[in-house]
Amino acid sequence: MKKISILSCVLVSGLILLMSFSGCGKKKNLDPSGIKVGLLMDTYDLDRWKRDADFFTNKSDSLGMQVLRAVADGDQDRQNKQADDFLTQGANVLVVISQNLKTAGRIIRSAHEKNVPVIAYDRLILNSDVDVYITFDNEKVGYLQAKGILEKVPTGNYILLGGAASDNNAKLVRAGQMRAITEYEKKTGKKINILADPFLDNWDRDEARRKISNLLTKFKAEGKKVDAIIASNDATAGGVVAALMAEHEAGKVAVSGQDAELSACQRIVEGTQTVTVYKPVRQLATVSAKIAFDLAKKEKPEDIIKNLGFKVNYIDNGFKKVPTILLDPVFVTKENMYQTVVKDGWQTLDRVYTNVPKAQWPKL
Ligand code: BGC
Repeated sequence: MKKISILSCVLVSGLILLMSFSGCGKKKNLDPSGIKVGLLMDTYDLDRWKRDADFFTNKSDSLGMQVLRAVADGDQDRQNKQADDFLTQGANVLVVISQNLKTAGRIIRSAHEKNVPVIAYDRLILNSDVDVYITFDNEKVGYLQAKGILEKVPTGNYILLGGAASDNNAKLVRAGQMRAITEYEKKTGKKINILADPFLDNWDRDEARRKISNLLTKFKAEGKKVDAIIASNDATAGGVVAALMAEHEAGKVAVSGQDAELSACQRIVEGTQTVTVYKPVRQLATVSAKIAFDLAKKEKPEDIIKNLGFKVNYIDNGFKKVPTILLDPVFVTKENMYQTVVKDGWQTLDRVYTNVPKAQWPKL
């Protein structure tokens, strides 16, 4: 009896060992309800970020995953701790909207120690082993911003106002703006005079207002007229327009932005902002949830991207060429506001045109 039970014991443990070895390296057939995805938001200061988080959560719910969600209020150290917390709670995959392009790398190192893959969402994290990066083409965002301004102000004095220096997107957006300006100058022989091109510490409306108000005072004293301000997002464009208003210049100086925030869309139809760039974040969020799901099942990044029907781009983050999805941003002015932002359900016609007499609303 004893012999048989020892024998069966050996056999059973052998079988278990064999099963676990043969499972090695293969995809995990995780029960979706057992997958925990940790969503680490930087901030909810813009309307878009709340919507990103909600779209992501809804899609993850529909895939059967459990979402752990935290917001760091612009504090990278805090986000790093939240990530540790999620890893302790057994997160199978992390999705990170980082604040600081460098120090967020710690999240990836901690996650990889536990074999947990990480998606850099919207913002790239530098010098680290990011598994997948998904974003809108930020260079194209900058290109479209400058295009909108160049169409309105074909020559003259420009200020370029960069976003947060701690965000890689701010640099890419600037690169796109410069590409548009250089191409334009070559093509037309016209000259754009860049008076100043600072970056901000944060993507902050008040910081933008202060910076532009100081520059306006300075250039006024020097007898220089400012014709256009290429602001890098709508929040900072709000600060720019406030500074212009104080000088009674709002509506006379062309201003750009991105995100199609409600206040920016209103400024556009009211004439104090020229252009914004709409990024359909529903697509970004839902595709990211699908990627998170597949990464948790240990599928390969390139395969996941291809199976979802996207081109695999590679972006060098200083550590490796990160498999990347670049989504397409949309150019928005007063002329196509309805066709783009409104028709896509991002903003409603009533709210965008709330301060405009009904007779001037687009005829549907
Ligand atoms: C995003 C923009 C956003 C900005 C400030 C950037 O990384 O791409 O959409 O306006 O951060 O939150």
